[in-house]
Amino acid sequence: MVRNDCGSCHGLTLKGGLGSPLLPESLRDKSVIGLREVILRGRTGTAMPPWSPFISEKEAEWIVDQLMKGFPDAH
Ligand code: HEC
Repeated sequence: MVRNDCGSCHGLTLKGGLGSPLLPESLRDKSVIGLREVILRGRTGTAMPPWSPFISEKEAEWIVDQLMKGFPDAH
């Protein structure tokens, strides 16, 4: 799901495309809460859409967690 829906902008390997890279190295300095908020509410003024109609806070946190660990074969 993440690879397909997020990959359309962030790149299939999440290295970035239209959106910024979502690799552990790029997210290391950011907070889980902040990233969760970006996912749920989108980022105003950019193409990043809000996902809150589709996913819960728990799911958004799970995604952040996975992204920080590095997605399997997202290298
Ligand atoms: C329509 C294109 C698009 C889609 C689809 C999309 N994003 Fe984004 N996303 C962006 C853009 C553009 C940015 C960069 C915003 C900026 O420049 O600050 C971004 C930024 C982010 C950030 C913040 C990164 C940072 O370094 O601060 C996260 C986290 C993120 N997206 C996660 C996701 C997740 C998870 C999904 C799938 C549920 C997703 N995005 C789907 C366009 C998209």
